Amino acid sequence: MPCTIIVGGFFGDEGKGKIVAHIAHQDHPTIISRGGVGPNAGHTVLVGEKEYGIRMIPSGFVYEKADLCIGPGVLVDPRVFLHEVDMLGASGRIFVDGRCGVIEEEHIARDRESEHLSKKIGSTGSGCGPANADRVLRISRQAKDLPELSPYIVDVAEKVNVAIKKGENVILEGTQGFGISLYFGTYPYVTSKDTSASQIAADCGVGPTQIDDVIVVFKAFPTRVGEGPFSTEMSMDKSHEMGIIEYGTVTHRERRIGNWDGQMARYSAMINGCTQIAITGIDRVDPACFGVTEYDQLTETAKVFIRQVEEDVGSPVTIISTGPELSQIIDLRTKR
Ligand code: IMP
Ligand code: MG
Repeated sequence: MPCTIIVGGFFGDEGKGKIVAHIAHQDHPTIISRGGVGPNAGHTVLVGEKEYGIRMIPSGFVYEKADLCIGPGVLVDPRVFLHEVDMLGASGRIFVDGRCGVIEEEHIARDRESEHLSKKIGSTGSGCGPANADRVLRISRQAKDLPELSPYIVDVAEKVNVAIKKGENVILEGTQGFGISLYFGTYPYVTSKDTSASQIAADCGVGPTQIDDVIVVFKAFPTRVGEGPFSTEMSMDKSHEMGIIEYGTVTHRERRIGNWDGQMARYSAMINGCTQIAITGIDRVDPACFGVTEYDQLTETAKVFIRQVEEDVGSPVTIISTGPELSQIIDLRTKR
């Protein structure tokens, strides 16, 4: 499967980062290229004892043999980017497309000062909305205009397409989630761009005929940060009682927690062109499944849930995450 897209099926924070990292270690991609909006995204990846919260660099960075790319559709905040490159020692294998839009300090100020964005929509305050607005107005700067980014600038679209043509494995990493897509989500409570698989491909400059697989990641108990409708949301008391408590990687706001939403999952899978499902947080469906690495070791409760997911969505569940650690995963891709 030379080119695989990995996207979030609910409202973001489905655990894409871990799924990307796992698939990278299994499939040995030469390139992991991210699409998505920009540094409003936050992925948390846990490797051993160490937790990484990152916003610009693809979460696949934990797989050290791949080049990391940021596609031309993505907004780059040079301060966040350079900080992460430094923190992760990614220099030498991280590349930015020269056409990426740039987030200025002023965009961040506009995002935070806007009552509409910061209060009504509940934006992350990372400047993405105003920066995309300026990009559409065609007044923003591009990554190639910034001398401090010059060591990292390449034509990402070309680099990715050359690798695909050679038959190398490439992962296109989505950010955010389907429910906050500008086109398909709960408008106006959405982010400033589409977040579906087609957009992620376009963000990286990859045409639809080049995509072999679309893995949609769903959380057993979906979450949402910020404002907007969430049909299966449960009360905070209920989620706390269940021991589920999560905070956003970027804003540290407490995430709203909901029950499995089969209807939304099906619709999301349809628009994403889902070929396979990755399900995360199965240890919340049944804590006895924590850390399990073989399908046969899952409890009946978990298996019933997985069958329900497959029935709701109409695609096979091929990856099951059973805990936060990279090794806590069941991979059925070769077995089915
Ligand atoms: P913005 O993208 O910062 O403008 O925020 C718009 C909405 O999308 C807010 O509800 C944010 O909480 C949400 N959002 C943006 N990026 C992410 C993400 O990566 N994960 C989860 N929610 C996000
Ligand atoms: Mg996140």
